[in-house]
Amino acid sequence: MKEILIINGPNLNLLGNREKNFYGDTSLEKIQSLCENHCNKNNLKCIFFQSNHEGEIIDKIHLVDNEFEGIIINPAAFTHTSIALLDALRATNKPKIEVHISNIYSREDYRRKSITSEAVDGLICGFGENGYILAIDAIKNLIYKSS
Ligand code: DQA
Repeated sequence: MKEILIINGPNLNLLGNREKNFYGDTSLEKIQSLCENHCNKNNLKCIFFQSNHEGEIIDKIHLVDNEFEGIIINPAAFTHTSIALLDALRATNKPKIEVHISNIYSREDYRRKSITSEAVDGLICGFGENGYILAIDAIKNLIYKSS
C-alpha cells in the first residue's frame, strides 16, 4: 500500500480549543482519524505527525523521498517565516500539497504570503478540516499520475 506523510506544524496540537473562530472546534486527533479513514478508503496509508519544532519537521521531510509516496503539510506559522522548510520541501521530489484550515488570504497581511508554497504542487486553504480530505484526493491523483 502506498504511504503518505501528513505533517502539522506548531500549535496545531491545540486545535479544538485554539481560536475556534478561525480553526473550528475539531481536534487534531479527530482530523487524524478522518485522514486515516479517508486514506483507507483510497487504498493509501498515512503517517500523521505534529511538531512544534522546526528542525523536527525538517528531519521528517528528509524521510519523504525514501519512505513515502507524497507529503501533505500544514506548516502553520512556519508557512510565513521558514526558508529552511521551503528548502527541505524543494529537496523532496515526491508530490507535495500544502493545507491550511483557514483562508490565509483573507487574514492579516503577514499571513497572506506563503513562503513554503513555492515548493509545493498545490495549496488548499479555507475549507476547515475538509481541506485535509481534499488534499488526500489531490495527492492520490498526483501519485498515480507520476507512477
Ligand atoms: C494555519 C494558518 C497559519 O497562518 C497559522 O499560523 C496556523 C494555522 C491554518 O491551518 O489555517 O497556525 O496554517
